[in-house]
Amino acid sequence: MTRFTVAIDGPAAAGKGTISKAVAAHFGFAHLDTGLLYRAVGAKVLTGVDPVRAAKALTAQDLGGDLRTPEVAQAASRVAVLPDVRAALVTFQRDFALREGGAVLDGRDIGTVICPDAQVKLFVTASAAVRAERRFLELLDKGLDVTREEVLADVIARDTRDRERAEAPLKPADDAVVIDTSDMNIEDAVGAAVAQVQKGL
Ligand code: C5P
Repeated sequence: MTRFTVAIDGPAAAGKGTISKAVAAHFGFAHLDTGLLYRAVGAKVLTGVDPVRAAKALTAQDLGGDLRTPEVAQAASRVAVLPDVRAALVTFQRDFALREGGAVLDGRDIGTVICPDAQVKLFVTASAAVRAERRFLELLDKGLDVTREEVLADVIARDTRDRERAEAPLKPADDAVVIDTSDMNIEDAVGAAVAQVQKGL
């Protein structure tokens, strides 16, 4: 096998990241969390940089550092509505998808816009309450001072912005397999995703 792309989309905190990492490790594929690109641009904008300039100048080094804070997540979803920001990030993502040896990309528009020809497309979702609780526990674990209510409000605000934007809105591709993880533990969710990828090999 030379090129094989797995596209994993879904709303905030649905388990995409964990599932994508596990699928990539299982099959020996490379993994790109495309949310980090938008977070890196959002983080630059919080320091006063113009969003389109930040997106055009983005390098792999910008993806390190702590981008997983609620402030950066909100900034990411605000820059993600801008067509010029999205356009500036397309080539990096497509090049990654077409690398030799297989790739898993997770985000919001991978199956619909970035890799419409991906061999496997998954849409990982869960109820807003379940997603907010998972994200709340994750942030607590990192020592951040947040409340359940704040995290739920953050998740809902981002989902609404991501679903309602004109450019590359969050939605399942017509040929995506939907995995609802609301009542699944992580092992079952990973198992369901691995089984779908296996079918596509
Ligand atoms: O996945 P993550 O929560 O890190 O993404 C942060 C934000 O980046 C999302 O809320 C969304 O607005 C944006 N994003 C996007 N397209 C992607 C990945 C992320 O618009 N492919």
